[in-house]
Amino acid sequence: MKNADFLTGITTSGTPHLGNYVGAIRPAVESSKNPDLNSYYFLADYHSLIKNHDPKKRQQSTLEIAAAWIAMGLDYKNCVFYRQSDIPEIPELTWIITCLTAKGLMNRAHAYKAAVQDNEADKNTDSDKAITMGLFSYPILMAADILMFNAKNVPVGKDQIQHIEMTRDIAARFNHQYKKLFILPEAKVDESSAILAGLDGRKMSKSYNNFIPLFGTQKQLRKMIMKITTNSLAPDEPKDPATCTLFSIYKAFATQAQTRDMAARYSQGIGWGTMKQELFEYIDQILKEPRTRYNELMENPSDIETILQEGAARARQFSVPFLDKIKKCVGLTSLG
Ligand code: TRP
Repeated sequence: MKNADFLTGITTSGTPHLGNYVGAIRPAVESSKNPDLNSYYFLADYHSLIKNHDPKKRQQSTLEIAAAWIAMGLDYKNCVFYRQSDIPEIPELTWIITCLTAKGLMNRAHAYKAAVQDNEADKNTDSDKAITMGLFSYPILMAADILMFNAKNVPVGKDQIQHIEMTRDIAARFNHQYKKLFILPEAKVDESSAILAGLDGRKMSKSYNNFIPLFGTQKQLRKMIMKITTNSLAPDEPKDPATCTLFSIYKAFATQAQTRDMAARYSQGIGWGTMKQELFEYIDQILKEPRTRYNELMENPSDIETILQEGAARARQFSVPFLDKIKKCVGLTSLG
């Protein structure tokens, strides 16, 4: 097995929505089909332990996310698609690098700092109140995900850049302390991948509860689109596409020519009712086939399990011998 050219993880929390699709799933599905790339995509279920303590929700989310990626056309035979907790080498590596990671580096992690600030704002006497070691050291687990496969490029959102920098820092320490085993990974922030607006016009996100699920029923999809906030301009009044949530969602799916045509119809004053109906029809036609595949997969979780097991076996062709090498290098090895 070769080093990973691209590697990225998807935390298994929540239900996949349209924003996840245009921001993460669609670009990953495209590169999964590229025969020249060795890409790794995994379900970060150990990461999901940090915030969610409900076993059923974790199972459900893992199932939904795996089904969504496959239904959307992930070429799981060409890439390596696996579940983090099926790779025991990852937590082993996590401990090895935990012992090389400066506590001060983790003190500076955004997620931890934000939690401390929330406690201080709430006037808690303990600024670490309710903060687990999982949250505190989560960048180390993420570093292990990446270093385990010596990944070169890590496609992530802007909020994750700091974690990739920390990974480089940790890898460099290992290379310096023991032996040069690790490549220093780079964050690949895709500026062109769309950030979708949600029902209220803010970024579509689970935390704002303004999302449209990728695989609701056709009826639900229509209902959600009808709920999107617009201004009160009447039909026939010219409208500004640049500030319109409906338009921005349309644009994230449509071709350039279709987007230009739609912009022209905005200046001619397309009515909100018509626009909503057209947006619904457009997205529904894209989701129709994948929705059928998704529903089939959801009814046959053992098919998904088989795909994940095959993926884990392929991932471990790399991680087992590589962890062996790492352990030898730090002196965790057989005595005779
Ligand atoms: N922390 C990432 C997120 O919340 C998910 C993730 C876990 C990840 N491990 C990773 C992303 C390794 C890239 C590489 O989005």
